[in-house]
Amino acid sequence: MKRNIFSLLKGNYIKYTIIQIFVAVAAFLGLLNPVFTRTIVDDIITDGKKQLLLPVLGCMLLATVLRLGIRYICQMNLEKITQKIVLNLRRQTFRKLMELDFSYFDRHGAGEMMTQMTTDIDITRQFLAHCIYVSLENITLFFGSLLILIFYIDAKLSSMLFFVMPVVVILTVSLAKEQKEKYRRLRQVHADLNTVVGENIWAQRVVKAFVREEYENNRMAKVNEAFRQGQIDISNTSRKYLPFIQNIHGIIQLYLVVVGGIFVMKGIITLGELVMFNSMIWMITGPLSGAGFLINEAISGFASYEKLMDLMEAKPKIIDKNRSRKLETIKGKVEFKNVSLRYQNSQALRDVSFVAEQGTSVGIIGQTGSGKSSLIHLLGRFYDPDSGAVFLDDHYIKDIDLEVIRNAVATSQQEVFLFSDTVSANIAYGCPKATAEEIRQAAKYAMADEFIQKLPEGYDTVIGERGVTLSGGQKQRLALARAILKQPSVLVLDDTTSALDSETEKEIQKKLREICQDKTLFIISQKISSVKDCDQILVLQDGAVIQKGTHEELLAEEGGYYQSVYKHQYGGVING
Ligand SMILES: Nc1ncnc2c1ncn2[C@@H]1O[C@H](COP(=O)(O)OP(=O)(O)O)[C@@H](O)[C@H]1O
Ligand SMILES: [Mg+2]
Repeated sequence: MKRNIFSLLKGNYIKYTIIQIFVAVAAFLGLLNPVFTRTIVDDIITDGKKQLLLPVLGCMLLATVLRLGIRYICQMNLEKITQKIVLNLRRQTFRKLMELDFSYFDRHGAGEMMTQMTTDIDITRQFLAHCIYVSLENITLFFGSLLILIFYIDAKLSSMLFFVMPVVVILTVSLAKEQKEKYRRLRQVHADLNTVVGENIWAQRVVKAFVREEYENNRMAKVNEAFRQGQIDISNTSRKYLPFIQNIHGIIQLYLVVVGGIFVMKGIITLGELVMFNSMIWMITGPLSGAGFLINEAISGFASYEKLMDLMEAKPKIIDKNRSRKLETIKGKVEFKNVSLRYQNSQALRDVSFVAEQGTSVGIIGQTGSGKSSLIHLLGRFYDPDSGAVFLDDHYIKDIDLEVIRNAVATSQQEVFLFSDTVSANIAYGCPKATAEEIRQAAKYAMADEFIQKLPEGYDTVIGERGVTLSGGQKQRLALARAILKQPSVLVLDDTTSALDSETEKEIQKKLREICQDKTLFIISQKISSVKDCDQILVLQDGAVIQKGTHEELLAEEGGYYQSVYKHQYGGVING
């Protein structure tokens, strides 16, 4: 897609052009009435040719009706075309969002994207539907009446307009220049405003729980003020120029009364011509004074379109090479070789290496921020490592189809997102074709069946509706069921059981071991009890694996991190 806003019209160029030609025709018809007025004054009133009255009035009526009719049809069709374009644009931008990877979302706020999907698209449409239409109408009126005045009435009388016009052009161009940056800034502040409002709606519980209402009010006040300032800036700039542009109308009017009067008295032009000139003046000054507004609208349109293009041109970093050698399934062996990962401003993983054979379990333990989740993100190839390599079933991960990877690796996270849909739809999110029986089975493994049965409509209960809310532990179990249902080759529990009591956790782990005979299981936790039965345990600190081994081996490492955590969590007694 090109940076040229008109490329949006692709496929509609001809229709759009025809409409715009008719817009010009309608404007041209508007030019006729002053001409007829001259005939009425000069030929009918002054010269007494009464037989002309009816035909002239008829023509005026016809021109008016035609003009209004054509305008109506043009507007209707422009609306249709541009709404269709917007529909496509919204679809394309949304698809683009779906295509982009984690790193894009890390760098761009939700408000920014919301603004792109809503306001920017609307403003772009407004440009194509309204701004161009009015501009064309104005241009026709302006040059049409200018030509009529010069060639039909009197070049000398009209010559004044040539002194005025450059002034208006200069003013309009300077206005456009000044406004450009301001609109760009306003557009950014608008996105920030959306971010703050959005975050406060989504994270309202957090805000309340941490009594941060005042802080959030202040944050809002800041962007709100910035938005106001942006609007004021724009309107101040407009106000600096618009009076000049608009007062030109008055100056021309004054000139006309004085000079036109003299011309009539001297017999250079007729009274009818003066009347005609007078009624054509607004067709010249109207477009001139409207130019400022149209420039604002156009600049705002370009600014929004540019933002849309920023999104459309964004490239996902994770690229599916679509190798011909297609791996259909992954059995579950995982290997990390000297893997390091860096986000924009923090080193998340340092030289991580380990091998997990198919059918084994890996426990990962470490403090918050030690890089546990980052390691898992690499496993699903949501990011690519900066150095080192990840292998699945001994295949370099970049050589495997993304879809194959994502189908093979299922993660259930601590932070669960549930859609406002039924419980079964939420569990079956990754496998829409799953039968009710399969869904229930997955829920049983995740120890969720029992509480789901107790919900008002069981598996058909819509989450978030009529006050149906779930506890953190219940949400985690739904997420776990969602991951289990996918029957992945690699199942990851990323702090999934943090909100569960240890009895339930033990029960779930027992069930998981049953179904994970041939699968590779990753259990991430800060609790020793969650990982101690794993075949191997990785201890992460600051992104590096500082200890590796079985529970017994790690416990035996005197003075090791694992041992100290164990002592802390088990009250100092070491008994395996
Ligand atoms: N999307 C991200 N963008 C930038 N930094 C991140 C991102 N995700 C995590 N980090 C940083 O990387 C480090 C490791 O985070 P993470 O893997 O989430 O740790 P853990 O899961 O062990 O709590 C932390 O310092 C965290 O702040
Ligand atoms: Mg984490």
